[in-house]
Amino acid sequence: MPPFNPSATRSQVTGSQVQGAGGDRLTIDCLLAATTAEAQEDGADVVMGLTTQPKSLPPKYFYDDLGSDLFEQITALPEYYLTRTETAILQAYAAEIAGLVGPCELLELGSGSSTKTRYLLNAFRQAGYSLRYIPVDVSGGMLEATAQQLLIEYPSLVVHGVVGTYDAALSHPLPTSPYPRLIAFIGSTLGNLAPVECQTLLAQISATLQPGDYFLLGVDLEKDPTVLELAYNDSQGVTAAFNLNMLSHLNWRFHGNFQLHQFQHRAVYNPAASQVEIYIDSLQAQTVTLQRLNLVVNFAQDEPLLSEISRKFKLSTLSEELKAVNLPVIKVFTDKNAWFGLLLCQKA
Ligand SMILES: C[S@@+](CC[C@H](N)C(=O)[O-])C[C@H]1O[C@@H](n2cnc3c(N)ncnc32)[C@H](O)[C@@H]1O
Repeated sequence: MPPFNPSATRSQVTGSQVQGAGGDRLTIDCLLAATTAEAQEDGADVVMGLTTQPKSLPPKYFYDDLGSDLFEQITALPEYYLTRTETAILQAYAAEIAGLVGPCELLELGSGSSTKTRYLLNAFRQAGYSLRYIPVDVSGGMLEATAQQLLIEYPSLVVHGVVGTYDAALSHPLPTSPYPRLIAFIGSTLGNLAPVECQTLLAQISATLQPGDYFLLGVDLEKDPTVLELAYNDSQGVTAAFNLNMLSHLNWRFHGNFQLHQFQHRAVYNPAASQVEIYIDSLQAQTVTLQRLNLVVNFAQDEPLLSEISRKFKLSTLSEELKAVNLPVIKVFTDKNAWFGLLLCQKA
């Protein structure tokens, strides 16, 4: 069984540690499963999700190479206000954030293409601060390509990438730095975690920070459900392709036989849970086999499979949750419609 490396189709990141073309300025640690036993554990979440009612899958399985590219296309869609809005906030306030934080080491969870991160990198550069950047992402191909590009754009930047899940990366030892750490988790990716997972991750983030260190969290806020549902049901069908690509990723990774045309994308807002729920509906009764997991799964006609939630937050509630894990909010940045929030927290 291949290790959990969604980008293994163009797998630039293959070893446990690689030095990039940037020489001393680029290191990439790969924390993905190296042994067959570890790799089998990776599929355990698929077995669990497909054998529990109602069926669900972890959103990390969206992100093979194609999934990462489709996500980039989503960020440019007219209906997908999230990226545009968070970008505008960063454009307006990155210099203020850099001024508050000072020279630091920036660790970013779920960094993807680091497009919005560049506003922070620019602000730190303009302030004359040296910076070490630690992007963390399960999508190894995207992480390495981005890191190589950043070395060109920022000639004095040092990049230490970590290919792995958030929890693995947060407990991974990194070289010490004389500067405070800033952990960034933007893009409202926190909203993809259920409340209990969210609390666990926030507590883990807090535990890795020293008093005085910083946490920058970007979250989508509650708003008109029509705006929300449009954002996840775009007219060009890119979100649908992104959603169904999860099945082709599972086919490749676990030798499955999902027939994509027999499934359909659906996204609805659930006001009781303040979350958009993204489903893959089975269009007919069917049986799917994932050979490498020794798994046979039956779907009933119209049976839904939950592939992602996207929670919409209330600033007051979230601030309380952050305070409870010793990460009090010191400043909130938002847009004119208060659609998106960027919260700067400092470890108490
Ligand atoms: C919603 S995208 C956000 C990307 C980028 N931060 C942005 O704001 O546009 C989520 C990113 O997190 C990564 N990701 C998803 N689940 C992950 C996990 N469990 N551990 C590490 N990275 C993960 C994905 O590969 C993807 O790049």
